[in-house]
Amino acid sequence: THCILLGAPVDEGQRRPGCLMGPAAYRTAGLAWTLSALGHGVEDRGDVVPDAPGNETCDNPAVHALPETIAWTNALREATAAALADGMPIIMGGDHSLALGTVAGVAQHSASVGRPQFVIWLDAHSDFHTVVSTTSGNLHGTPMAYAAGRDGFDPFPPFPAPIPGENICMFGIRSVDPAENAAMQETDITVNDMRVLDEHGIVAPLRAFLDRVRAADGLLHVSLDVDFLDPSIAPAVGTTVPGGTTFREAHLVMELLHESGLVTSLDLVELNPFLDERGRTAKLMVDLVGSLMGRKVFDRPTRSYG
Ligand code: ARG
Ligand code: MN
Ligand code: MN
Ligand code: MN
Repeated sequence: THCILLGAPVDEGQRRPGCLMGPAAYRTAGLAWTLSALGHGVEDRGDVVPDAPGNETCDNPAVHALPETIAWTNALREATAAALADGMPIIMGGDHSLALGTVAGVAQHSASVGRPQFVIWLDAHSDFHTVVSTTSGNLHGTPMAYAAGRDGFDPFPPFPAPIPGENICMFGIRSVDPAENAAMQETDITVNDMRVLDEHGIVAPLRAFLDRVRAADGLLHVSLDVDFLDPSIAPAVGTTVPGGTTFREAHLVMELLHESGLVTSLDLVELNPFLDERGRTAKLMVDLVGSLMGRKVFDRPTRSYG
């Protein structure tokens, strides 16, 4: 696979500074090296630079950094669509508001090649607010609703080709606000919350979704939020929620995704290196990408975790 690394130092989608250091942390933790060692081609296109923010406003006074987020959305949509034409984009975030742009870029590409788009959302949160419904005002809580074509995104550019709910599958969910829950009830999105994973494990629900992607010859975008993981193994995130996935559950998801051969683009989001402990979260995220890109249980190199 020709992997295209895109840095997205987005910090404006929430209010705890630090996610802007994410791309540097992934580079420091050896993301490119990990991919090359697995036999992949790697092209690091550097950090995406947004245009200067405009002066957009909206009716919800809680909303934080709207013009900056719109500027990122536009820049990341174009960068992701362009990268998809050349290989597999791996977006190194940055907070989850970056997915407003990356998922739009995948949608743009999927419309141009005439293949349906699917999304796997690995997250403690559903991120199904709109600009209107958000009470925190943090726009990292909105990208999934934007991609699903919910109303309430003025003055964002319209989402290129809204993704049908049947093509969206969430895993790891354990923190959903009432307005998000109400809106999701109106959709066909598959929400595999932690209770589902406790009861059925990760394998059956994931395989069921992957079968649908394969049958439709779809493009599959994976959006991996650090808080999908339990905070005890991944502390470097501003929105920790107890009861997340374990080390092996997370690797198993990645291994199954690899075996499917279906993943065409990937977001790595919400890493806040300022909150990390000796780089352990950054290194775990890089190792998860390793499993997604083909590393097997039996070929984990011995590595110093100094
Ligand atoms: N639902 C909460 C909010 O809207 C939390 C969102 C957290 N999102 C994230 N990408 N970490 O503020
Ligand atoms: Mn998220
Ligand atoms: Mn989250
Ligand atoms: Mn594997």
